[in-house]
Amino acid sequence: MTKIKIALQKSGRLHVESIKTLNDCGIYLNLCYKDKLRVLAKNYPIEIFFLRDDDIPKYIQNGIADIGIVGKNVVCEQQKDFLIKERLGFGVCKLVLAIPKDSKYKNVKDLFGKRIATTYPNLLKVFLKKHNISSDIVSISGSVEMTPDLKVADAICDIVSSGETLFKNNLKEIDQVFLSEAVLLCCPESNKKHLVNMLLSRIIVVKTARKYKYIFFFATKKKLDKIYYFLMKNKPMEIKIIPISIPIRNSQYINIQSIVEENMVFQTILKLKIYGAKNIIVLPIQGINI
Ligand code: PRP
Ligand code: ZN
Repeated sequence: MTKIKIALQKSGRLHVESIKTLNDCGIYLNLCYKDKLRVLAKNYPIEIFFLRDDDIPKYIQNGIADIGIVGKNVVCEQQKDFLIKERLGFGVCKLVLAIPKDSKYKNVKDLFGKRIATTYPNLLKVFLKKHNISSDIVSISGSVEMTPDLKVADAICDIVSSGETLFKNNLKEIDQVFLSEAVLLCCPESNKKHLVNMLLSRIIVVKTARKYKYIFFFATKKKLDKIYYFLMKNKPMEIKIIPISIPIRNSQYINIQSIVEENMVFQTILKLKIYGAKNIIVLPIQGINI
């Protein structure tokens, strides 16, 4: 049977979320996949390669893997943006310029003629050119955060996710170079387009659903117009489904159900309580097909 080959990060920031995305798509890996570099999915014709993130774009471009999940930062640094098929919304991070906490530099302009250490020389070059700044780019392959302390560089250009690495190394951010998130790569010449598209549509259904929650509650009939108006006003743009209300036999209450943006859930609950809503239940959504 033809299998889709998927390249995922073997460890690091995107590893767990990438596997979770497949799980949310109803695809489960064979147990004991830990420490293995190649595993099969249990219930889908898929083989997974666990690779270093920097190698993933190459595997996709050469057709060794059909699909890959990796940070946009890695793909754009390697100038392989043409492989990107879909943004995935997780693994959000930024490439920043950072300096020692006690340094007096304020922004990129102060780094004119200074040494900046990075594993992202291409993205940094583009940023410096845009700002008309000429600096000395010290290109290294890891542990960038140590370089100011070792007097190898005056500043660094590195990925920040939680901010813990900068904090632990007494560094502070002064400018943002590039915003990143996980992206799905597809081999343009894949001969398994049909299988790949089936998987891609599952991923899009899951990705859309992650942005929203389902809200289910009860309210009195006389408040329905106000509640309906509020829910419609705050309805996510891309969601076509309108709130529904279901009468309850022999009761002054009705059951109302709607979809709300995840970051609006608690504001919505507060407002609904003002309208006398009761028994408000918020549910995760497994998939939305728009
Ligand atoms: C980046 C960066 C830092 C860390 C920052 O590495 O180089 O080490 O993440 O994250 P924090 O702000 O949460 O501390 P990345 O995960 O991209 O790994 P890699 O460069 O080894 O591939
Ligand atoms: Zn890496």
